[in-house]
Amino acid sequence: MTEIKENWIAKGFIDEPIPSGTDLKTEIRRLCREKNAVIMAHYYTEADVQDIADFVGDSLALAQKAAATEADIILMCGVHFMGETNKILCPQKKVLIPDLNATCSLAESCPADRFADFVRKHPGHKVISYVNTSAATKAVTDVVVTSGNARRIVESFPADQPLIFGPDRNLGSYLNSVTGRDMVLWDGACHVHERFSTEKLLELKRLHPGAKVLVHPECKGPVVRLADVVGSTAVLLRHAVEDECDTFLVVTESGILHEMRKQAPQKTFIPVPPEDSACACNECSYMRLVTLPKVYNTLRYEWPVIEVPADIAAAAVRPIEAMLTLS
Ligand code: 13P
Ligand code: SF4
Repeated sequence: MTEIKENWIAKGFIDEPIPSGTDLKTEIRRLCREKNAVIMAHYYTEADVQDIADFVGDSLALAQKAAATEADIILMCGVHFMGETNKILCPQKKVLIPDLNATCSLAESCPADRFADFVRKHPGHKVISYVNTSAATKAVTDVVVTSGNARRIVESFPADQPLIFGPDRNLGSYLNSVTGRDMVLWDGACHVHERFSTEKLLELKRLHPGAKVLVHPECKGPVVRLADVVGSTAVLLRHAVEDECDTFLVVTESGILHEMRKQAPQKTFIPVPPEDSACACNECSYMRLVTLPKVYNTLRYEWPVIEVPADIAAAAVRPIEAMLTLS
């Protein structure tokens, strides 16, 4: 049993020195075989991390894959709520994430106690929560959605059923506009997707008049309205590969470009930059906390481990399973 060091707990990750000459990718794969571990990675992690994963996907696919895995250990290369979802779906398995500081601005914007108050103030409403929430917030939810299935799940409720949607006000407004619903929205947002502006996008559209615009629905309404395709990262990827167009302006976290370029190397993918920066890419600072040395140390020492209190897990599993059934 590995001794968990005080300084790891204080930092939220392991920073043990790695012996020089270690081939990290080879060692990570060796540890996976030795420990019967599976590595899952979100499309927003850095390219090196995606390349050593057994499975790379969007939030929905990662949850579906976790529910089906036979591995003893799931190493979730993504943010904290993704590790929690895996643990709730696979309570017997050890679930690891490389850095406990990898949270999410949407999940942080929706503390469970305040969300529960909000729900109480809207009696008779069913509660739909985006997967980007803590387990405790999911526990006061009727059904969880991801950007990949949100529209279908919203439309599965009778038209006269009042609904609450949290925490992403942009995704919620988009869903209201495409379904004609009037869901009550929690006032949260993703710090990455909110940084896209119409100005930079219009400028790039002028430079690349034939390009198609791929937009994640966590972006603000005026940006979404400029899209040719709106969808989850997996939906945007599918269009990038299958559409006959050869140039795309990509309005989501720039990690997705790695898989787009892998699957369609002959095409041109241009990341749309955030409004308030000279940088060409828009990266999620939380996802980018996942690095290969942390992945290696996490597998080596089997820490940080994700734990979800039993009462919260019991309440949160219901809306997650409801989502998987409706997906
Ligand atoms: P999807 O993986 O559902 O596209 O969500 C994007 C996201 O922000 C993940 O945190
Ligand atoms: Fe959360 Fe936004 Fe990062 Fe996704 S991109 S993990 S929604 S902060």
